[in-house]
Amino acid sequence: MKLGFALASCVVACSSSAKAPATPTHGSSETPAHKGHDGHPGHHGHHGDGHGGMMHSFKGADEWAKVFDDPARDEWQKPDEVVAAMAIAPGMTVADLGAGTGYFVSRLSKAAGTTGAVLALDVETDMVEYMKQRAAREGWQHVTPQLTASDAPTLVANSVDRILIVDVWHHLENRTAYAAKLAAALKPGGAVIVVDFEMDSPMGPGKAMRILPAALAAELQTAGLKTELPTESLPYQYIVVARKPA
Ligand SMILES: C[S@@+](CC[C@H](N)C(=O)[O-])C[C@H]1O[C@@H](n2cnc3c(N)ncnc32)[C@H](O)[C@@H]1O
Repeated sequence: MKLGFALASCVVACSSSAKAPATPTHGSSETPAHKGHDGHPGHHGHHGDGHGGMMHSFKGADEWAKVFDDPARDEWQKPDEVVAAMAIAPGMTVADLGAGTGYFVSRLSKAAGTTGAVLALDVETDMVEYMKQRAAREGWQHVTPQLTASDAPTLVANSVDRILIVDVWHHLENRTAYAAKLAAALKPGGAVIVVDFEMDSPMGPGKAMRILPAALAAELQTAGLKTELPTESLPYQYIVVARKPA
């Protein structure tokens, strides 16, 4: 099954006329609740690593949860459509890389079913602890929140069917090296699904940090992954699907 078909056929609201009516805005405060969804206060709050990645602090999960899990996000993030486009079959093992407070996790768990598994990975201890508490509170099934390294997804080789990466790719350092580690973690036929901000999005990181979809696809291709760029995408973001040959 070809990933991204749902999006390619514009199941999501994908034209400019279909953008969410409430335009998210950036604030200038460093407080998460006052930042845009990606926590980017305009062009401040980051430092580059000289290799394309940008470091950013995501400490304080309780505060970030107000941003990441804001119910208003569903309107433009369209999480059900994103998960549908991942073509997750029951029994699959799915990783959410940079899962944050777990916005996508319950949907991924539902898609993978009782015979599947979800690894909710994040580089911030506080995010992992927050997801563990949320798992207990909300009764997440077959979900393992897990701390990961900043330079590697800490996944077993050939073990994962799908890897979701939402609003995280532009934070990674040495992205081509990282892509090779993702490819190693995928089972043959498995896929990485990357969602990141459009250049003209009113929210997201500063423009200097944004990545064109073709450039992002090229980074994934260096790892031998075959990429697909859905012709239509989300209101403020694009999706790149990168598949490991079967
Ligand atoms: C903008 S948030 C997105 C959270 C989630 N994907 C969502 O859509 O709600 C970025 C998350 O990526 C995490 N992160 C940043 N760099 C990472 C890395 N190298 N490996 C894993 N997680 C990382 C941050 O700690 C943060 O929780």
